[in-house]
Amino acid sequence: MKKVLVEICVGTACYVMGASELMLIEDYLTPEQKERVEIKGTTCLDVCQHSEHGKAPFVRIDGQIYDQVHVRGLVNLIAKHIALNE
Ligand code: FES
Repeated sequence: MKKVLVEICVGTACYVMGASELMLIEDYLTPEQKERVEIKGTTCLDVCQHSEHGKAPFVRIDGQIYDQVHVRGLVNLIAKHIALNE
């Protein structure tokens, strides 16, 4: 089954706005969810310079950019994308 690709931006703007906490997201996922996702940090997604994309921290999930992501929100987004892949 295809895994959901979660790319957490750890560029400077995102890192200082909370991306470091997001990198611990696996601690908040169920064992089943962990098997369905690939989580990695990425360099600047090049959206922090463009206000139309919103505010840091940014996460890209299966190619879709999300802004102002916090831990609880990211858990929900991951669950949503896992459901989309079913
Ligand atoms: S530092 Fe995250 S998008 Fe630029």
